[in-house]
Amino acid sequence: MGHVAEPAGFRAAASRFATGITVVATGDQDGAPIGMTANSFTTISAKPPTVLVSLTRGRTWQAVARSGIYSVNVLHADDAALSAHFAGRPLLRDAPPLVSREGFFVLPQAIAQFACEVVQAIDVADHTLFIGEVRWCRHNEGTPLAFYASRLRKGVGMEISSADHVAYPGDGWWT
Ligand SMILES: Cc1cc2nc3c(=O)[nH]c(=O)nc-3n(C[C@H](O)[C@H](O)[C@H](O)COP(=O)(O)O)c2cc1C
Repeated sequence: MGHVAEPAGFRAAASRFATGITVVATGDQDGAPIGMTANSFTTISAKPPTVLVSLTRGRTWQAVARSGIYSVNVLHADDAALSAHFAGRPLLRDAPPLVSREGFFVLPQAIAQFACEVVQAIDVADHTLFIGEVRWCRHNEGTPLAFYASRLRKGVGMEISSADHVAYPGDGWWT
């Protein structure tokens, strides 16, 4: 392999790409819910509705590989504790609040839920890209939890409001 970017610089540059935070959930071999925090969620296509998550080999990876389904749950700004909990720091005393809905485990308080069936799994480096076709999805209003420069942030101003809409070129920008 030729020269590659040095890891600390790569991480810092990647951290400048602002994302939301999701919990990716599925059922394990005993049918119990399991989930992990992931910001690698990407939409791929609307025809058919297709998304991907990039998961490292762990317990949730194993459960998704086995079940062939997963949900992506977009966290609300008030749910930073859920982000830490599902990133391997179990802060919540009670069982994780994943509930079964139409064949998928989901987080009821998420501002969006995508119920996906794996249509392709592609191993890349130490992760697997789980490409999923969206069987159903739902969304709510609310301020998103954001991840930027290695920190969780309240997506203040990211709630849907016309006040912070930035016009695109062609949207009156040039006139
Ligand atoms: C903000 C944040 C984003 C994360 N995004 C991802 C991700 O996209 N893919 C991934 O494999 N791990 C990601 N992680 C790490 C996993 O959440 C963590 O390794 C988790 O414990 C894995 O769960 P598991 O034991 O069920 O495999 C993220 C962690 C944090 C805090």
